[in-house]
Formats: sequence, C-alpha cells, structure tokens
Amino acid sequence: MEIFLDSADLGEIKECIEFIDGITTNPSLIAKAGFKNKYKDLIGEICSTVKGPVSVEVVAHTHTDMIKEGLALKKIADNIVIKLPLTYEGLIACKELSTKYNIKVNVTLCFSSGQALLAAKAGAYLISPFVGRLDDISHNGLSLIKDICTIYSSYVFNTKVLVASVRSPTHVIEAAKLGAQAITIASKILMQMIAHPLTDSGLATFEKDWNN
Ligand code: G3P
Repeated sequence: MEIFLDSADLGEIKECIEFIDGITTNPSLIAKAGFKNKYKDLIGEICSTVKGPVSVEVVAHTHTDMIKEGLALKKIADNIVIKLPLTYEGLIACKELSTKYNIKVNVTLCFSSGQALLAAKAGAYLISPFVGRLDDISHNGLSLIKDICTIYSSYVFNTKVLVASVRSPTHVIEAAKLGAQAITIASKILMQMIAHPLTDSGLATFEKDWNN
C-alpha cells in the first residue's frame, strides 16, 4: 500500500519523508501552509523535496479552465499529479488530460461508487474517496472503499484507490485489509501508527535492566 502525506507543510513533509510515497494537497492545505499567494513556489519546493507523486488541485470551474490550469501546474514539475473535483466538468477535464496529454489525474471529492466508476472510465490515475467525511454524516466510509475495490477489480481499470479524509490508524488498517492501493494521511495519523505504549514501556524496561 502506498502511503501519501496529506499536507502542504514543508516542515511536516520533511519530518515524515522516510515513511511516505508521495504528497496530496488541496486548496485548504495550501492556504493553511500560508503560501496562498505564492503557491507555485511552494509546490515547486514540495516537488523537489519528495520523489513520488504530488497531487495539486485546480480551482477552476469549467473543464476548459481546469485543463488550462492543469497544464500550467504540470509545468512546475514532472512528479505533479493534477487533482480534479468529481464533477461533470472535472470528469470531462480528466478524460482530456489523461488521454490527450497523458497527464496523471487524481479525481477527488468522491463520495459514491457510481462516481468512482465514472472516474475510472474517464482515465483517472487515482480516485480519492473521502471516508472520514462520510463517517461524519453517519454513512460508512469504509464500505464505500470496499465497493470501489470490488468494482475496480472486476474490470481492467488502471485507476488506483487512494483513501482520503482519514481520521484514525484504524481507517488505514481497514483500508489496507480491503486492498486499497493507496492512502493519504495527516502526519498526526502517521505518528499514531508508529507509537505504541507497549513499545515505550518495553524500551524503558530494557534500558533500566541494561543500566542495572
Ligand atoms: O485532501 C483530501 C482529504 O484527505 C481531506 O480530508 O480531513 O479535510 O476531510 P479532511
């Protein structure tokens, strides 16, 4: 399973670099990093820090503008994946960027398996279903992952399932058990996955015994 960091914070990215296969960003994360007006510089720096794919989201609304914005973003670095919203316009832009320009697209804000099916048919490289935001409204985010994995495995799609809006290490483990190819997590979740109280107490005991 590929693990991406859901962050545009260079400090966080550097802290987690040894554990991650790439980065996902979105307009909220870029704004949070405080680089809104110089976001192309920030993206350039992230792309040179991380070897793997870096998803960068367009803010345009029409497919024509999304394609223009996607092509401009792609010029910043080779490892950029263009992130498009799962809308009518976004799917049209996905198809054109994927097939005509051979650009990798991450289709985001996916909340149903019908949307995921259409994204795969539009040539998406990644589909980003949001598990946490579904759980937040009393739906079952992980059952969406199960459905998408089942549908994708029944056909020859090249689209990878990138689980997004992850709220806990349990989400990560359950998504891995379902066979999702990738997940994007905040640094806090990565640190929660590393830590275990029995590791800490075991280490303290070893150290104490060694010193005695
Ligand atoms: O980047 C997309 C997604 O991971 C956002 O998650 O926590 O804002 O629902 P969240």
